[in-house]
Amino acid sequence: MMLKSLPLLFSFAVMLFAATPGQAQDADAGEKVYKKCKACHQVGPDAKHRTGPILNGVVDRAAASAEGYKYKKSIVAAAEQGLVWDEAQLMQYLSNPTQYLRAYLDNPKAKSAMTFKLKNEQEQRDVIAFLAAQSGDAVAKEDTAETTAKAEPQLSADEVVAAQVFTEEFLADPVNFEAGKEMWFAQCTHCHGYKAYPGKAPKLKPGKYTPEFVFKRVYKGFKKMPEWHETFSVDEIRQIVAYVKAPGFSP
Ligand code: HEC
Ligand code: HEC
Repeated sequence: MMLKSLPLLFSFAVMLFAATPGQAQDADAGEKVYKKCKACHQVGPDAKHRTGPILNGVVDRAAASAEGYKYKKSIVAAAEQGLVWDEAQLMQYLSNPTQYLRAYLDNPKAKSAMTFKLKNEQEQRDVIAFLAAQSGDAVAKEDTAETTAKAEPQLSADEVVAAQVFTEEFLADPVNFEAGKEMWFAQCTHCHGYKAYPGKAPKLKPGKYTPEFVFKRVYKGFKKMPEWHETFSVDEIRQIVAYVKAPGFSP
């Protein structure tokens, strides 16, 4: 079934190029844009689910249909309403996934687990052209389906830490700030912050840390600072980082 969909995918890619001659998509340029996605997504024959699902064959496919990946409920609801990732839908989704799902579902509470936004339309087109060419190796993917079903990192802690890239956009996104804030007050103020027992943990000096440093400390822990990678997903830790690094954060 996966194999049969390959020719379809290729013809779709051809259609994309033919349909909008004025605004060429450039798969090579798209490969560069795709670097922004790599922290969370993989493509190719050995791709595994990470924070986000494998993106092989995603173009022109039903939303939320990568096998073995646990999607959040809003995107699943959109899929149930028939959402298919054609170029137009993907462009809008990439611009702002949460806003897109809210509009699609006509539900102001809908939320995307994808916190990243790609605003530039040419970059959107290019990355979609790149993705349209990523069919993956369907056979190898099926072979590994069982081992990857449980998704979470086979990466070492250091590899996960090294894979983190924090864009200005990500750090400035109010969705991340709010989510991070909630987790901060749920878990971190036991030891940090003005309400904590004095001396339990040092007062944080966020201005002195890079986002990558904060991620590393939270993910891996350090001395009496606990490690959080089993409590929070990578995505959630990234949101905590966005909160700690935000101007509105008060240690
Ligand atoms: C910070 C992590 C992160 C980054 C960076 C990211 N994504 Fe995502 N993406 C996700 C997550 C998590 C989901 C699952 C969404 C859900 O369950 O609501 C997702 C879902 C998707 C989907 C829907 C897949 C499906 O099977 O329906 C597409 C398409 C997608 N991302 C494309 C991209 C592209 C293209 C980029 C780069 C321009 C990108 N993403 C960058 C985390 C990310
Ligand atoms: C059980 C108490 C405790 C909890 C809960 C805790 N921390 Fe810590 N944290 C510490 C201690 C103690 C240190 C100092 C470790 C050291 O350098 O010896 C620390 C250090 C840090 C540092 C590095 C500070 C520096 O100046 O080097 C960061 C960043 C940090 N914590 C963030 C967090 C975040 C975010 C959370 C919530 C997810 C959290 N911590 C929860 C105890 C805690």
